[in-house]
Amino acid sequence: MMRDLFERFYENKGPLGKWAKYAEGYFVFPKLEGPISNRMFFKGKEVITWSVNDYLGLANHPEVRKVDAEAASEFGSAYPMGARMMSGHTELHEQLESQLADFVNKESAYLLNFGYQGILSTVDTLVGKDDVIVYDVDAHACIVDGVRLHLGKRFTYKHNDIESLEKNLQRAQKVASQTGGGILVISEGVFGMRGEQGKLKEIVALKAKYNFRFLLDDAHGFGTLGRNGAGAGEEQGIQNDVDVYFATFAKSMASTGAFIAADKEIIDYLRYNMRSQMFAKSLQMQLVKGALKRLDMLRTQPEFKAKLWENVNALQNGLKSNGFDIGNTQSCVTPVYLRGSIPEAMALVKDLREEYGIFCSIVVYPVIPKGIILLRLIPTASHTLDDVHETVEAFASIREKLEKGLYKRFSDALMNSDS
Ligand SMILES: Cc1ncc(COP(=O)(O)O)c(C=O)c1O
Repeated sequence: MMRDLFERFYENKGPLGKWAKYAEGYFVFPKLEGPISNRMFFKGKEVITWSVNDYLGLANHPEVRKVDAEAASEFGSAYPMGARMMSGHTELHEQLESQLADFVNKESAYLLNFGYQGILSTVDTLVGKDDVIVYDVDAHACIVDGVRLHLGKRFTYKHNDIESLEKNLQRAQKVASQTGGGILVISEGVFGMRGEQGKLKEIVALKAKYNFRFLLDDAHGFGTLGRNGAGAGEEQGIQNDVDVYFATFAKSMASTGAFIAADKEIIDYLRYNMRSQMFAKSLQMQLVKGALKRLDMLRTQPEFKAKLWENVNALQNGLKSNGFDIGNTQSCVTPVYLRGSIPEAMALVKDLREEYGIFCSIVVYPVIPKGIILLRLIPTASHTLDDVHETVEAFASIREKLEKGLYKRFSDALMNSDS
């Protein structure tokens, strides 16, 4: 028997949606107000902000704001109209691509309107039905969605597990030798939830044994890792073995847009075949001009990255020396693992925001296992050491309350209050 398409939306709102009644506007879709900086406003109260990916603190830098404003005034938000291939191509787009390619040590680069659609479409364009994809099981949703478009075989390997990768490469090789296709391996430079770097050195070392191409999503590594800030490939000394490099402007560059970089022949192929760019409007000029300015600052002002890492080290060492479990982070992403239920996690975060003025993201099941609370902190260059100390002290205090079962009582009250 048929039913109305929307019927199930009323019955089952999904693993996160089912908490909406308690979470909306507070834990999800919160409104952080005021200029993007280390301290912003949440429900009228100043909070130390640990949940924006403005790693280098450029979002509200006066020089960046000036260029953004001038570009908006000169071009508006329409220019250029049309897809790159048709009527949306400009000299400045080319200039930015050439500078990005130089910065990440590749021959050529191509701009993408958004990271998410961009990498999804990159995956789609790089493989045909006879090819095989092998990717890390913890890959970001945009990679997973790209893989979903693939009409051929795909295998996941256990997260950052090289033995599992090798096993799956053997399976992939068997398939590809039957179909006559090739193999694409995909990893992230930094896994954004827990902060570990992908084992890129070990991944590319397998090229000696297996014939594959390597796509790296370096959303969190670009601007934060490597001597020059060129990312996780530079940090691990294997950038030359990355066949297609991807980064977004939405993190270190504090903007919107993204790019891929590779050998010229490969970028040329992508320019002529990548559906998300062929059939969508070109990146707006104000974003292109803004990105040129930000890239220049990344390149010429290493003090932003130095300040970022001063804060990262202070925060991570402060948490560790206070006995917090911050897992195996090898990047700026700072997870704090606690034990508790989802309602306890909500009560704890409410307390952190309202009593301690600390705003961080909360990650719960199904993103991480049941019973674990992950508080995720993103240090930036705009934080101060005072912010760090205040936060570590607040964390010590909420942990004590959690262990005493206080949040269990709060959460019971919260759950019962509107039933
Ligand atoms: C690993 C990774 N890839 C891609 C993206 C998507 O980038 P954008 O925000 O530019 O769409 C993100 C953003 O969160 C990300 O973390």
